[in-house]
Amino acid sequence: MHSVSILSALLAIGAGVVSGATTCTSDIKISEPTPIIDCDVVDADVVVDENLSGSLSIEGPKQFKKDFTVRNATKLIGISSSSINSIGGTMRLEGLQLLSSLNMQALKSVNNLQLINLPQLSGLTFGTSGVTKCSSITITDTFINDLSGLNIATADTIDISNNAKLTTFNSDLVNVTQSLKLTNNGNTMQVNMSRLQTAGDVQFRQVKSFDAPVLSQVESIKFNDSPELLSVSANNLTSISASLTFINNKKLSNVSFAALTTIKGDMTIQNNTALQSVEGFPNLKTVGNILLGGSFQKVKLDSLKDVQGSVTVTSTTDISSFCKFFDDAKSNNNIRGKESCTSNNKNANQGNGSGGTSNGGKNKEDAAGIVSVNTALLGLAVFAGIAQML
Ligand SMILES: *[C@@H]1O[C@H](CO)[C@@H](O)[C@H](O)[C@H]1NC(C)=O
Ligand SMILES: *[C@@H]1O[C@H](CO)[C@@H](O)[C@H](O)[C@H]1NC(C)=O
Ligand SMILES: *[C@@H]1O[C@H](CO)[C@@H](O)[C@H](O)[C@H]1NC(C)=O
Ligand SMILES: *[C@@H]1O[C@H](CO)[C@@H](O)[C@H](O)[C@H]1NC(C)=O
Ligand SMILES: *[C@@H]1O[C@H](CO)[C@@H](O)[C@H](O)[C@H]1NC(C)=O
Ligand SMILES: *[C@@H]1O[C@H](CO)[C@@H](O)[C@H](O)[C@H]1NC(C)=O
Ligand SMILES: *[C@@H]1O[C@H](CO)[C@@H](O)[C@H](O)[C@H]1NC(C)=O
Ligand SMILES: *[C@@H]1O[C@H](CO)[C@@H](O)[C@H](O)[C@H]1NC(C)=O
Repeated sequence: MHSVSILSALLAIGAGVVSGATTCTSDIKISEPTPIIDCDVVDADVVVDENLSGSLSIEGPKQFKKDFTVRNATKLIGISSSSINSIGGTMRLEGLQLLSSLNMQALKSVNNLQLINLPQLSGLTFGTSGVTKCSSITITDTFINDLSGLNIATADTIDISNNAKLTTFNSDLVNVTQSLKLTNNGNTMQVNMSRLQTAGDVQFRQVKSFDAPVLSQVESIKFNDSPELLSVSANNLTSISASLTFINNKKLSNVSFAALTTIKGDMTIQNNTALQSVEGFPNLKTVGNILLGGSFQKVKLDSLKDVQGSVTVTSTTDISSFCKFFDDAKSNNNIRGKESCTSNNKNANQGNGSGGTSNGGKNKEDAAGIVSVNTALLGLAVFAGIAQML
């Protein structure tokens, strides 16, 4: 193999400055562990035979312009290359049951990286500064515990799911144009997105905390079913063009969106039983629909000026003093659809607005069958009712 590459180097020199690099254009199927690929650039697909066993070492080529695919090679234990620095298509490693090492120390750029079902793979080695360019990343069902080899600033889609050993993600991401999905990784995964500025759909599940201090624009944010999630903050975010959702996060106690003014779609906060107050939205003015259901004792959306659809606010506790705000907002036509705000509702965590007591006078029985009536508030409610009729 060595002599061949020297020969090709000599040939390249012999050919003068015409190209300086050999480009191969026919597809390559690799079926031996140390293949001789006598080209600097492969402008064709490269596929590894599924029967290849042991360690694959690809030395020589610098660029794969199309796809590099290794699927179902269940006896392959390692893949390495110190020469390949870019892959212009998809690098897909899938269903490699024994693969335990991936060492591509020169790799800087991959258009589409797919690492799927690699149950023995615990780490990645990429170029010294990592892979810095990648438009789409899928990493699912692996044993990977460290993503520090990915130093990517911009991407279209990121999907990192079901990697049970992955517990931290200190990301360099700045802009993610389409979707950013981190779900069901190590149960206490901490996500630090200190540079993230813009994102499309953000969907997280089973993360412990999330802080995105410079995030300024996002399509949607969804945090569901994260039993260890403690806090979420994005204090420079001003606008969400679709929806904001927090459902079934039993330890979540702090949600802070200090600069947020607009949620064009739905705002849903439901069944986060440790959340004592919903007051992390001091500047929120415009929302599509609001559904807040929980065990919170405080709910404040002081800047709310326009809800295009409906508002349902309900808690297992007594929030009647905050309900006046929403009842008034309805009277003032700041809420265009239905409005309902109820206290002492045992079904509040199910987001069920019916049940519990409202300030509107129609007090319903609570869980224990006790009718709680606050006469002072009833007075206010009657006043609000009259105001509404005028
Ligand atoms: C892999 O090996 C099996 C058994 O030797 C053979 O039948 C099959 O054709 C081989 N697959 C490929 C893609 O060469
Ligand atoms: C790889 O293996 C899986 C499961 O054994 C099978 O469903 C899939 O079709 C195989 N893919 C290829 C490209 O052979
Ligand atoms: C991220 O997006 C912002 C706003 O569109 C842009 O100004 C910035 O240059 C982008 N950053 C990177 C690293 O692409
Ligand atoms: C988050 O990442 C930034 C930059 O990578 C780093 O400075 C900071 O210490 C990290 N924070 C945590 C809590 O790890
Ligand atoms: C907050 O976002 C704005 C753009 O909306 C940006 O100009 C500003 O620098 C950001 N502030 C911080 C502290 O990142
Ligand atoms: C509420 O969340 C808990 C876990 O926090 C979950 O067990 C329960 O099923 C959820 N209830 C609903 C109605 O989703
Ligand atoms: C919630 O987080 C915000 C900002 O991250 C912080 O200012 C505030 O003190 C926190 N509140 C609680 C109750 O921890
Ligand atoms: C809400 O609760 C009411 C009364 O308990 C019940 O009739 C209704 O079916 C519930 N709705 C949902 C969506 O659970």
